[in-house]
Amino acid sequence: MTESLPVRVFADRNDACRTLAAEVAALIGAINDSGRTAVLGLATGRTPLPFYAELIRLHREGALSFSRVVTFNLDEYLGLPGEHPESYRAFMQRELFGHVDIPAENVHIPDGTVGEAELEAHCQAYEDAIRAAGGIDFQLLGIGRTGHIGFNEPGSPKNSRTRLVGLDPVTRQDAAPSFGGLEQVPEHAISMGCGTILEARKIALLAWGSAKAGIVREALTGPITDQVSASFLQEHPDATFYLDAEAGAGL
Ligand code: F6R
Repeated sequence: MTESLPVRVFADRNDACRTLAAEVAALIGAINDSGRTAVLGLATGRTPLPFYAELIRLHREGALSFSRVVTFNLDEYLGLPGEHPESYRAFMQRELFGHVDIPAENVHIPDGTVGEAELEAHCQAYEDAIRAAGGIDFQLLGIGRTGHIGFNEPGSPKNSRTRLVGLDPVTRQDAAPSFGGLEQVPEHAISMGCGTILEARKIALLAWGSAKAGIVREALTGPITDQVSASFLQEHPDATFYLDAEAGAGL
């Protein structure tokens, strides 16, 4: 099997994250040196944890400042206020923002508490804010077992934008342990669309462990289809998969 996207397979996730964090720090530095604020698209979940730990380490060593960084997170669960420990706002504060020098006003995460009447305007405002910031320089992605990027579950069109989405039963099942049971897992989320994500100038998708090997292989070597939203990355000019040996085992 040949894959059309650059794939980098590392001995383990810490190796991968050290490499990527150094690359992202260099990118932020270069953009800031050119007089611009760097715009990052960020992900939550288990996958980016060692990457965020590495960014924090670089910050503590004085090698990376977030003072001229603006961030947009991919998604948020519908119905969860920012104080809820499983909200993605709480996750980002705990795992990254609470440890670095990013100005609070530079952080953007969809608001899971937005009412039905305001939802469409909220999603449009999110898109407008990304555009006003100059577009996303670097987008970080994980991949769900359904092949989702963000929460773009099977059937999400390539040109989809930030919107209300339903979570696939597989995705809800995967989230159940951290919520303490399936019934606690929200059924909906607000997510950037595939089209929003694909407009990022540079993209890195991370995947670790054997549970991701099958879907990684499908995304990289299978047909480009809305049934596996990560397969749309095959058409992106600057997207790279960072894998550990287990996630890359099917290639
Ligand atoms: C998270 C996100 C999702 C996750 C994916 C993998 O913001 O949008 O696409 O990246 O569900 O989750 P983990 O990393 O927990 O396996």
